[in-house]
Amino acid sequence: MAELDKRGAEQIDVPSGWTYASAPESREIVRIAERYGHFVGGEWLESAEAYETIAPRDEEPLAAVGQATDADVDRAVAAARTAYADGWSSLPGSERAKYLFRIARILQERSREFAVLESLNGGKPIKESRDVDLPLAAAHFFYYAGWADKLEYAFPNRRPRPVGVAGQIIPWNFPLLMLAWKVAPALACGNTVVLKPAETTPLTALVFCDVLRQAELPPGVVNIVTGDGRTGAALVEHEDVDKIAFTGSTEVGKAIQRRLAGTGKRLTLELGGKAANIVFDDAALDQAVEGIVNGIYFNQGHVCCAGSRLFVQESIYEPLVGKLKRRLETLRVGDPLDKNTDVGAINSAAQLAKIRELVASGEEEGAEIYQPPCVLPEKGYWFAPTVFTNVAQSYRIAQEEIFGPVLSVLTFRTPEEAVEKANNTPYGLSAGVWTEKGSRILWMAQRLRAGVVWANTYNRFDPGSPFGGYKESGFGREGGRHGLEPYLEFDE
Ligand code: NAI
Ligand code: MG
Repeated sequence: MAELDKRGAEQIDVPSGWTYASAPESREIVRIAERYGHFVGGEWLESAEAYETIAPRDEEPLAAVGQATDADVDRAVAAARTAYADGWSSLPGSERAKYLFRIARILQERSREFAVLESLNGGKPIKESRDVDLPLAAAHFFYYAGWADKLEYAFPNRRPRPVGVAGQIIPWNFPLLMLAWKVAPALACGNTVVLKPAETTPLTALVFCDVLRQAELPPGVVNIVTGDGRTGAALVEHEDVDKIAFTGSTEVGKAIQRRLAGTGKRLTLELGGKAANIVFDDAALDQAVEGIVNGIYFNQGHVCCAGSRLFVQESIYEPLVGKLKRRLETLRVGDPLDKNTDVGAINSAAQLAKIRELVASGEEEGAEIYQPPCVLPEKGYWFAPTVFTNVAQSYRIAQEEIFGPVLSVLTFRTPEEAVEKANNTPYGLSAGVWTEKGSRILWMAQRLRAGVVWANTYNRFDPGSPFGGYKESGFGREGGRHGLEPYLEFDE
């Protein structure tokens, strides 16, 4: 048979290797302005101070973006207050829904443009921004449009009314999607918004202002101010903001909570994670390997619910880790705009430094590192997909959020031990369980101290499903009917 194969191959000139031709998505579809101000009261406000936002794949400067001062934030909050009082809060829910439906449809129409911009400014593979970020962002607007005129049914006998002006601060890992998670429920409930995108990824939020204009959303209902943590702090501290919604690091989340203590301002926090992805010996191993890869290498591991701690039942440790390493060799790391890319660029120099520091600590503490052979581009910020074995629970790489493409593998023998080890973390955002047994899934889900538990899958999101943390992963829920509650007051 082997002989036959060889002869056949000679005759038909079979290529010796199968490589992917480059398949870049054209960036022609995106028009980026040279300079952006702040979007306040439906107008562009010039920013006195500005900084350059870049493409992490090659450090190419993309645009000058404003650094909002206290005075800029003040103007944005005033615009939001005026829009709130001048009609938005008393508009019938069915009217608010029309705007949200429009925004959703426009996002769908312009999704290719937004996907390219998201990958360019943030570094994530176009495959992901095209197939995950954009469809989900639109889905959130569609979903909350549906609730806008049904709030009395969502909360029967509780007479819901809007909270007021919401200050929303979002991170850089899912820029447009986090915007949608924040803006859609706030507007559906009759609030107005001042949103601050993350400093490294402001562009999709700024182009989104054009969507708001197209949808003819009344001026001031959504205001966008850009800048770093100083702008975020000004928003948190502003006296006329009624509610803060924050997604980002646990450190900043705690500082915000301290700042707001005693002010009566409402607060929801969606913070870091160190999720356990737990594989039992009866699991379908090949599917589990796909779930592990999706769990930690999706979006370069810049995911708060990333499955960064893999717990493998001892009896299947060897075959599973073998399969995982082989699968890693097939991951394509490179240009975020290439449609074949699986792992894109690290979002920023600062994040790359953090990943490197934690990986070095893992090696020093005694873990064994594995990285598949891959050639990283010379310019830009890159880190190879990494697996650590021989990891003890006390190591920093098993305790701290790395927020990069780095997996720590640990083992367990019994379900009780899996639960105990999985819960041995200050975080509690998500977890994954891989097993054939339905009863074991339920047994595990009841014991894991995590807001989301995925069974035989990972990193699945749906606007109808609530998301949020236990312990230092924060409080409050986004998504689903639960996601309306932080944006409502009740006359009870
Ligand atoms: P960060 O928490 O500093 O940034 C998140 C957002 O908060 C950004 O918009 C930022 O401008 C704003 N911000 C920063 N300081 C603020 C302050 N004092 N008051 C109000 N807003 C403020 O996160 P950073 O520094 O970008 O990343 C550090 C680490 O945090 C990452 O390595 C990762 O471990 C974690 N992280 C977790 C995220 C999540 O989704 N849970 C998202 C981003 C980061
Ligand atoms: Mg920070």
